[in-house]
Amino acid sequence: MNKPIDRFKKDLKNIAKAGAKLINIDLPEIEEKPIIAESAPEAPLTQTKLASKKAKKDDIPVNTYRPKDPFVGKCLSNEELVREGGEGTVRHLLFDLSGGDLRYVEGQSIGIIPAGNDESGKPHKLRLYSIASTRHGDRLDDKTVSLCVRQLEYNHPKTGERVYGVCSTYLCNMEPGADVKITGPVGKEMLLPDDPNANIIMMATGTGIAPFRAYLWRMFKEKHENYQFKGLAWLFFGVAYTPNILYKQELEKLQSQYPDHFRLTYAISREQKNAAGSKMYIQSRIAEHADELWELVQKDNTHTYICGLKGMEGGIDEGMSAAATKHGVDWAEYQRDLKKAHRWHVETY
Ligand code: FAD
Ligand code: A2P
Repeated sequence: MNKPIDRFKKDLKNIAKAGAKLINIDLPEIEEKPIIAESAPEAPLTQTKLASKKAKKDDIPVNTYRPKDPFVGKCLSNEELVREGGEGTVRHLLFDLSGGDLRYVEGQSIGIIPAGNDESGKPHKLRLYSIASTRHGDRLDDKTVSLCVRQLEYNHPKTGERVYGVCSTYLCNMEPGADVKITGPVGKEMLLPDDPNANIIMMATGTGIAPFRAYLWRMFKEKHENYQFKGLAWLFFGVAYTPNILYKQELEKLQSQYPDHFRLTYAISREQKNAAGSKMYIQSRIAEHADELWELVQKDNTHTYICGLKGMEGGIDEGMSAAATKHGVDWAEYQRDLKKAHRWHVETY
């Protein structure tokens, strides 16, 4: 605490605390995170820098660990994310990566090989999960990776029997201390641009929030020398009930801390109704804000990301198409160009 900036921060904090006491309000905690220096300083991206973008993509780690020789990590924690009154089970899992070479960046996925064999007696195949932490991990020591996993459960269409997904159940029931076989990382579709002034539109249903948690933590919770986010991040988040809003407290805290840089729009399907009186799905929110979104996507530095249920894509296209048509633009064609320019990113499952 001997640098002028630290003294300044401490003074600010004391002044704010004293002020808050006087008017009797709860002040959101000011987080003092160390500034993270990353080895390769990253240049801002523009559409015209496709060559440097390609070089950057080639630098992204992939398949460091393959299914034949996976990394064996340890489960450090496994916490429920769905609160009382919510639907189903979604867990936040933290795995220890120390002793290995598994490095990853925001937007990538890892594979998990569940223990045991399938019906034919062969070892289970891996399942992919989006990484929910930044490259530095939840503990900021570059030694962990986090996942956000919903336990798959459904009634068998023929027998009516309750069926639980193999890998998601394995993960959701995992005890801290257990070994876990990890492959990857994989994926270059959902990478976050290095440009700190970019606009980042995120559309998630359920566990589709995972990569966006990583983006938002990188943008707002970590302090970087070479990436200080100054653009607009806008998250559309679709869930069944309010208690299903994953990471709700943290998201809303970010929104209150950075109101000029972070917008948060929920679609709570089983509590809210859209204008037509049907379930409030994420696409109804897109339709409500379609003109604003259309303005935004036309900017060279706007990137749109969609993650979660496959079913949401069609509805999102309808909303965007309606807005584009008003301006005489064919959305399908426009979206093709956005994809070519790496500004429209989809990872649905
Ligand atoms: P399995 O035992 O493999 O069962 C799945 C099978 O059950 C399906 O193939 C289907 O045949 C059947 N089935 C499923 N639902 C029904 C139904 N309603 N009626 C009848 N049959 C049905 N999941 C997450 O929770 N979090 C993530 O972050 C995440 N990220 C992903 C990222 C990518 C790139 C991909 C491709 C997938 C991601 N998934 C994520 C999904 C994950 O990979 C698994 O598919 C999921 O956990 C289910 O696996 P399981 O082993 O539990 O189910
Ligand atoms: P609902 O289940 O009420 O039909 P989760 O993965 O946590 O269950 O959340 C998924 C959210 O996405 C739920 O609110 C779910 O609504 C909603 N959803 C389901 N199908 C679609 C779809 N085709 N398009 C958009 N949202 C959907």
